[in-house]
Amino acid sequence: MSATQTNKIEIIKAATSKIKNVDFDNLHFGEVFTDHLFECDFTNGEWQKPIVKPYAPFLLDPSAKVFHYGQAIFEGMKAYKDDNNDIWLFRPDENFKRFNNSAVRMAMPEVPESIFMDGLNELLKLDQEWIQKGNGSSMYIRPFMIATGTGVIANPSDDYKFMILLSPAKAYYSGEVKVIIAEHFSRAANGGIGAAKAAGNYAAQFYPTNLANKDGFQQVIWTDDATHTKLEEAGTMNVFFRINDTLLTAPTSERILDGITRKSLIEMAKKEGLNVEVRPVLVSELVEAAKNGALKEIFGAGTAAVVSVIKGFSYQDVYYELAPVEKSYASFLKEKLTSLQNKLSEDPFGWTVKVS
Ligand code: COI
Repeated sequence: MSATQTNKIEIIKAATSKIKNVDFDNLHFGEVFTDHLFECDFTNGEWQKPIVKPYAPFLLDPSAKVFHYGQAIFEGMKAYKDDNNDIWLFRPDENFKRFNNSAVRMAMPEVPESIFMDGLNELLKLDQEWIQKGNGSSMYIRPFMIATGTGVIANPSDDYKFMILLSPAKAYYSGEVKVIIAEHFSRAANGGIGAAKAAGNYAAQFYPTNLANKDGFQQVIWTDDATHTKLEEAGTMNVFFRINDTLLTAPTSERILDGITRKSLIEMAKKEGLNVEVRPVLVSELVEAAKNGALKEIFGAGTAAVVSVIKGFSYQDVYYELAPVEKSYASFLKEKLTSLQNKLSEDPFGWTVKVS
């Protein structure tokens, strides 16, 4: 290992790289991590010295509050490499803002922009060899923060650890996605933490999703907790519906995550002249549209999965399968977005930011 200092970030390099053991053509999402990680601790009321160091397990006290009360948040973002080997981030300011909104909601300290951004840039530069080029390839970035303070009294921790991991990524889902519309379980409620990227939001989905899996469905479409009549999110993604030629998605709320892919697709679709309506979408109108042939497409949108086509849905034990569509909005928008992200086409929105 060798140590250097860049912009006050200590850098300790791994003695050897694991990269030669990685089969980049057969990556499973989120299983392979690069040689280094970024870490910064919060103790005594302030952020301590940031460090980039070799990826390795670390020790925590068994009474650390993250284990008992789930005080933990994360983000999902991506970096891309262009033909000149420059590295680009997609709307990183949006992830940074949302991370700190989540921190506030979970009574955690906000991370200063310099720690978040400089840490990320240094880490990406150090592990840049791991970033693959081309449409469909990216480096998935996982910033997260956990409560490391000890003691099982149920109050916010005094101590925290902020880290960033990098994981080379291709597709999130393989194969077709069929969904079940939730009639009982909920992902989020008004006044709750649905709009935050709190770890527990995802853990709470595992049980209903397991039940759906047993019935042959990959994901659940979450409905509003009060009436189960409004379509809100799909699995870990925002969700879009195309009825005739109109693209519909629910407005963000206390229950719905302000997805960066979601808002980018909305802007992009409008710019391309598509008719987009951001309004509550009812289960009843989806079922009606499926019955009368007006329902053309359903797709999820998120950083990890980008755009994930949903082939059919089940509601009240009836399965509705969508007919193949010729000019798919999902394929069109996915291609536009990923080629912009991978710097294979122009970025008229100014969303891509170079790592320097
Ligand atoms: C993302 O799309 O980045 C997410 O946060 C979903 C995650 C569960 C993989």
